[in-house]
Amino acid sequence: MNTFEFSTCSSLMCGVDAIQELPDLLKRLAVERALIVTDPGLMTTGIVDRVAALFDASATDVTIYSEVEADPPEAVVLRAAQFAREAKITGVIGLGGGSSLDVAKLISVLACSDHDLNELLKSIYGIDLITGPRLPLIQVPTTAGTGSEVTPISIVTTGEAQKTGIVSKRLLPDYAILDAQLTVGLPAHVTAATGVDAMVHAIEAYSSKNKKNPYSDMLAKQALQMLSRNIRRVVQDGSDLAARQEMLLGSMLAGQAFANAPVAAVHALAYPLGGHFHVPHGLSNSLVLPPVLRFNAKVVPGLYAELLDVIKPDHAPSSTKEKCDQFIMELESIIDDVALPKTLRECGVGRQDLPTLASDAMLQQRLLINNPVAVNEQDALEIYNSIY
Ligand SMILES: NC(=O)c1ccc[n+]([C@@H]2O[C@H](COP(=O)([O-])OP(=O)(O)OC[C@H]3O[C@@H](n4cnc5c(N)ncnc54)[C@H](O)[C@@H]3O)[C@@H](O)[C@H]2O)c1
Ligand SMILES: [Fe+2]
Repeated sequence: MNTFEFSTCSSLMCGVDAIQELPDLLKRLAVERALIVTDPGLMTTGIVDRVAALFDASATDVTIYSEVEADPPEAVVLRAAQFAREAKITGVIGLGGGSSLDVAKLISVLACSDHDLNELLKSIYGIDLITGPRLPLIQVPTTAGTGSEVTPISIVTTGEAQKTGIVSKRLLPDYAILDAQLTVGLPAHVTAATGVDAMVHAIEAYSSKNKKNPYSDMLAKQALQMLSRNIRRVVQDGSDLAARQEMLLGSMLAGQAFANAPVAAVHALAYPLGGHFHVPHGLSNSLVLPPVLRFNAKVVPGLYAELLDVIKPDHAPSSTKEKCDQFIMELESIIDDVALPKTLRECGVGRQDLPTLASDAMLQQRLLINNPVAVNEQDALEIYNSIY
């Protein structure tokens, strides 16, 4: 076994109604002025008001910042951090999907300093470049999901369309709260896309080239089992609380897995679709998942065969190659059943755009180095072509 490192957030609360603990957790962290960081879409669901109402009888003063945008651009992060500084907040609550949680993480760092915001943000892009402290941080996901509540990563859209990562253990929260009641109103197509994203996290962690380890493997398998068992159910019936709670826990476990055994070519090829065409993160992953797995299957069929045992334990005995092929087909059948589009054309991409996507995917070396098989620009172009 290789030497490995494993980190995650120090505490989490998981269960229907766990959100009730939020005021108490903030008190434990000695937060007097908290900022809820969320997006306009979530404001319309009533969830933010419900969470804010928990503080009616609490000593913590709560302000809401609801201007987060999907795939948050740099300017959005800077505006949010400026708001937090002016409001003199002393603690941050991320409430929403991955976009809100990622912005909340950065606010907790940026609002904690007097440095010029723009320069400070520029100085932390990359790995382990955050040196200062951060404000207390509690993450409450409402999608299942990115797993962002337990990853040391924030993804920011920089320039026109590039997705850039900030990676630092300082971005792990003090608490994550997983309460399925906050996900019941998630529309079926968002439930489907975010659910496949979580499955991709587990799969890519399990085949991650450099940092795969027994701990991340255990988490990835447990995550994939819970997610594959429940994804069809939650898309069909969004009010199934038990299935929603398993999805939320599954996506968090997958987050813990890939936080320590990072994702690879599926994400590297998905990011340019989000950057250029605003294809939602989960959907972009779902689109490129089958062809990237087929590409990798030449080299790591055994790993995918092992994952078939996880998602279909009752499969008939067969060879490694057959099991690997069946694993990929099972995933395609999930994508079919949850009614996600399967071609780039359906997502507004033109054939003439494919070379730009392939060239942009090559910028994601942070991710590509984790892929079990080297991917060059021509490979990427062929993969995009195969799903055009
Ligand atoms: N930090 C990480 O480790 C990590 C990992 C993967 C992805 N990401 C990033 O996360 C972002 C994607 O996050 P996402 O897929 O969760 O989507 P999102 O945060 O962009 O939200 C998608 C939409 O769902 C709505 N929504 C969220 N919860 C809802 C609910 N309970 N009911 C109704 N509507 C709800 C939001 O208002 C929004 O309109 C991307 O920016 C991606 O790059 C980060
Ligand atoms: Fe993802």
